[in-house]
Amino acid sequence: MHLQIAVLPGDGVGPEVCREAVRLLRALNSFYNCEFEIKERPIGGVAIQATGSPLPESTLQACLNSDAVLLGAVGAPEFDHLSREQRPEAGLLRLRSALGGFANLRPAVSFQGIADCSPLRRAKVEGADVLIVRELLGGLYFAEPRGFSANGESAYNTMSYSVEEIERIARVAFDQARMRRKKLTSVDKANVLETSQLWRRTVTEVAQAYPDVKLEHMYVDACAMHLISNPTRFDVILTENLFGDILSDEAAVITGSLGMLASATIGGGTNLYEPVHGSAPDIAGKGIANPLGAIASVAMLLRYSAGMDHEAADLETAIQNVVNAGHRTVDIAGERQGHVATTREMGELVENAFVAMLDRRFAYHAV
Ligand code: IPM
Ligand code: MN
Repeated sequence: MHLQIAVLPGDGVGPEVCREAVRLLRALNSFYNCEFEIKERPIGGVAIQATGSPLPESTLQACLNSDAVLLGAVGAPEFDHLSREQRPEAGLLRLRSALGGFANLRPAVSFQGIADCSPLRRAKVEGADVLIVRELLGGLYFAEPRGFSANGESAYNTMSYSVEEIERIARVAFDQARMRRKKLTSVDKANVLETSQLWRRTVTEVAQAYPDVKLEHMYVDACAMHLISNPTRFDVILTENLFGDILSDEAAVITGSLGMLASATIGGGTNLYEPVHGSAPDIAGKGIANPLGAIASVAMLLRYSAGMDHEAADLETAIQNVVNAGHRTVDIAGERQGHVATTREMGELVENAFVAMLDRRFAYHAV
C-alpha cells in the first residue's frame, strides 16, 4: 500500500505538533509493506508570507492529489487586520470546501490519568466519551448572501440548510452512533430558527432507517449546559457548523485540554485530519505545545483513510498509556510537580509505546 499524505503544518504551534504527528506515520513505514509518502506544503499565514495567498494553488493541488491531508493550525495575530478572504483562516475554509468533506468528527474522551486536569470534578468527567459530528460545509460559514452593506454600517450572514445537506450529515452521525453506544443527540435551536426546524424534521425522518439508535433533540443552549454539567449522558452529538464549532471547544473542558482533541473530516474526495486546537501564538516556538491532538488525528487518519483499524486503536491506546503513566505537557500538568514533557518528548514517548505495540503485533503475526 502506498499512501500520499499532504502535511500542512501552517502557523503557530502547527509545525511543532505536525512534526510529532508525522513521526507516527514514519514509524509505521518501517513495519509494514506500506509507505506513507509525505509532502509538506504551506497554508495560512506562512503561505501568505511566502506567496501572498493563504491557500496557494500548489498546496491545493497537492491536497487534491493526496490520499489524505494532515493539517496543523492556521491563524496569527499579524493578519488580524486583513479582510476575511485574505486571512489565514480563509485558506483553511477554502481547503475544506475544495476537499468536499462535510462531516467533521470530533471525539472528546476523558482519560483516567488526567481527569483531574479538567476544571470539572473528576466524578463528573470520568467515563465521558462524546463524539461531536459537526456539519462542516454549510450554515453561516458558507451560505450566501453575506457581507457588509454599502456604507459598512451593517453586516449580514445567512444560515441556510437544504434537506439533502442535513440528510447526509445525519446519516454519518447515525452510522457512528451505531458503532458506539447507539444514542444520538441532535442539537438545534428549533424554538427560534427555521433552519433548525428543517434540521429537526429531517433528522427525525432519517432516524426511521436507524431504529436501533435512540434519538433525542436538544436546544443548543441547553446542550452547552448539559455538556459540562453531565457529560457522560452523551454519546454522539449531531449539529450544524457554528454550533459544532462552539460545542467542540466546550467539550475540550471534559478532556482537560484543547490540546487533546483530534478531528477527522470525511465524506468528500479526500479526508482532512486536524487537531481541534488553534495556532496558539502565545506558546508557538517554545516546544511546549501538546502534540496529542495532532497524534490522535493521525490515529483517525489510519482508521478512515488507510483502513488500518487495529493500528488506529493501538495508537489511541499508546496515547492513553503514556498519559496514564504520568507523562504531561504543560497544559495537562495541573498542580503536579516534577518533569513536564516538551512537545518532542511527548511525541517520542507515544512513538515508543506505539512501536512496542506494533512489535508485539508483528511477533504474533510471525508465529
Ligand atoms: C475549528 C476552527 C476553525 C473553524 C477556524 C480556524 C476557521 O475554529 O476548526 O474549529 O471555525 O472551523
Ligand atoms: Mn473552532
